[in-house]
Amino acid sequence: MDANDMGNALEKVLISEQEIKDKLAQMAKKIDEDYRGREILLVGVLKGATMVMADLARLIHTPAEIDWMAVSSYGAATKSSGVVKILKDLDSDLTGRDVLIVEDVIDSGLTLDWLTRNLSSRGAASVEIAALLRKPEAAKVEVEVKYIGFDIPDEFVIGYGLDYAEKYRNLPFVGTLAPQVYQ
Ligand code: IMP
Ligand code: MG
Repeated sequence: MDANDMGNALEKVLISEQEIKDKLAQMAKKIDEDYRGREILLVGVLKGATMVMADLARLIHTPAEIDWMAVSSYGAATKSSGVVKILKDLDSDLTGRDVLIVEDVIDSGLTLDWLTRNLSSRGAASVEIAALLRKPEAAKVEVEVKYIGFDIPDEFVIGYGLDYAEKYRNLPFVGTLAPQVYQ
């Protein structure tokens, strides 16, 4: 899928395919420096993190395994509590593992705040976060992110794994939707 397939549903390209590539290469370089001599367990959060995982994992030289989790918030009323339901758990035992969570975007931060606590409680040696995007203005809780791609405005974005109603995940760039799409 590309911009042409979106017609007038695309408002603008926020981060191009090349910009994503360059940034992920920088992030992978830092990760390799920090984890030298160790092995990483990359934990992707479905489904948004699929593209970041596929590209970042291939740029990392440190020995790495890949595992996935699927989570959902417990409905709108309890969302602010940051209580998260596990829809698909990891296959891996985390005891003594160096875990690196791979995420698409940090919005309120509630999901990752909960997830880092949850994974740490399973006996991991370390739990860090690599996220392509972060919306600083949307933060409800401060999450310590070791590897961040881009800080973006508090806007709804799509593409490169991110969806609107399950669509547009397969765009190679990150963009914003034209307002009429929401209406
Ligand atoms: P948080 O718990 O508020 O940080 O929510 C993070 C999750 O909400 C992300 O992993 C995404 O799946 C989803 N999300 C947040 N912002 C956007 C967006 O702008 N576009 C698409 N999905 C988003
Ligand atoms: Mg996500």
